[in-house]
Amino acid sequence: MDIFRTKSVEQSISDTEAPEHQLRKRLTATDLTVFGIGVIVGTGIFVLTGQVAKELAGPAVALSFVVAAVVCALAALCYAEFASTIPVAGSAYTFSFATLGEFPAWVIGWDLVLELALAAAVVAVGWSGYFASMLASAGLGLPATIAGDDPVVNLPAVVIVAVLTTVLAVGIKLSSRVNLILVITKVAVVLLVIVAGLFFIKGANYTPFIPEAVATPRVEGTKAPLIQLLFGITPVAFGVIGIFSAAAIVFFAFIGFDIVATAAEETVRPQRDVPRGILGSLGICTLLYVAVSIVVVGMQRYSELSTSAPLSDAFIAVGQPWLAGIISVGALAGLTTVVLVLLLGQTRVLFAMCRDGLLPRSMARVNPRFGTPFRLTVLIGLVTMALAGFVSFGELAELVNIGTLFAFVVVSIGVVVLRHTRPDLPRAFRAPLVPVLPILSVLACLYLMLNLPAQTWLRFVIWMIIGVVLYFSYGYWHSRTAMPWQKSDR
Ligand code: ALA
Repeated sequence: MDIFRTKSVEQSISDTEAPEHQLRKRLTATDLTVFGIGVIVGTGIFVLTGQVAKELAGPAVALSFVVAAVVCALAALCYAEFASTIPVAGSAYTFSFATLGEFPAWVIGWDLVLELALAAAVVAVGWSGYFASMLASAGLGLPATIAGDDPVVNLPAVVIVAVLTTVLAVGIKLSSRVNLILVITKVAVVLLVIVAGLFFIKGANYTPFIPEAVATPRVEGTKAPLIQLLFGITPVAFGVIGIFSAAAIVFFAFIGFDIVATAAEETVRPQRDVPRGILGSLGICTLLYVAVSIVVVGMQRYSELSTSAPLSDAFIAVGQPWLAGIISVGALAGLTTVVLVLLLGQTRVLFAMCRDGLLPRSMARVNPRFGTPFRLTVLIGLVTMALAGFVSFGELAELVNIGTLFAFVVVSIGVVVLRHTRPDLPRAFRAPLVPVLPILSVLACLYLMLNLPAQTWLRFVIWMIIGVVLYFSYGYWHSRTAMPWQKSDR
């Protein structure tokens, strides 16, 4: 049984070179940076900041953002090398197929399905929080059963996913101009929070900067970070330990730079521009995040922050409902693009897996009328709607993080493997200090993973076991890589 059969780099690249599949090369470093910020800035900063400051880190949440940014920067360099060596859309799934083989690629693909569908649901829930907050500042509160901090079913989240699924299914393209306007709006709102918020900061809110470690319901039982359970530490929130537990969660705020790597195929000079785009967007987002979190915990005592719309609700708390309204509108615009890109990324990865025969190929059939994988898009939309409507927000985000960190681990290992197996390939961008840097990246990602709750690990393992069973009962037997004579009908 050859579960490590690879799809050669040349094969992956030639798949993209068929004239009808060729993407125009026109993106520059600036385009990539704007695209990156568009995908990255979302629920992480607009929602999770409040939640983790309140429950895990206190005012020191800014430090958690720094820790998460460092981990991402290490992985980002590995992604940049891969994207410039194999400039093919499909992200970590394609990279793994070319280096580690079919089974690891399946595992990563299955993992990305988890990451992207859940992330879309998380951002939709964040969208809903700001939608409710916007209505509230206009005097129209929604019932607590359908929106807010802990609803029975999160109706606005379900509706936004339904609308965006329709947009994707019928193939409406978001023009780059509309995208640029949405990104500018989003960044303007973030800057508004920083500048306007400065006037409402109370020094007293910063003490204690790192609240004393305590045992709270947040870390009871299997909700405790795995690392605390493994080392027999009585689970606590806050304190220095809390900063790292929070980092493992606000890591969510940086997810998206890995999606920038998939645009390598459309970049004029990937060698120079993909690393600049990835690292540039990551750097700018880090600065924005640190500044926003410092301001918000200065405006309102950390223990009083809202967990569904903390940025705008902080302005309501200081008696500025109209500023809160502006922030909600900007957040809504910005979060919409994030949900859209995540749903799109999800269809692309699943599409690639179906095309390779690891999932039923018929599922990814392109609808002749709309020119999109209609069935697949609708299926993904329905699953995401169910998740967004019913699953708790924090738990979803943690599961997304563990999945993404796992993908980072595999990509970092893949860089070292490909340097050995294919030293001949032209590498437009080379990550510095290989293998030290990828090893550090693996360790840093594993460390953040260990800081996630034990129950998140359990759910992740269950998801992966389902994936392995599927592979051996279906994917292995239907894989196109195993049946090269059928390749011509790809
Ligand atoms: N980084 C994206 C967000 O925070 C996924 O919403």
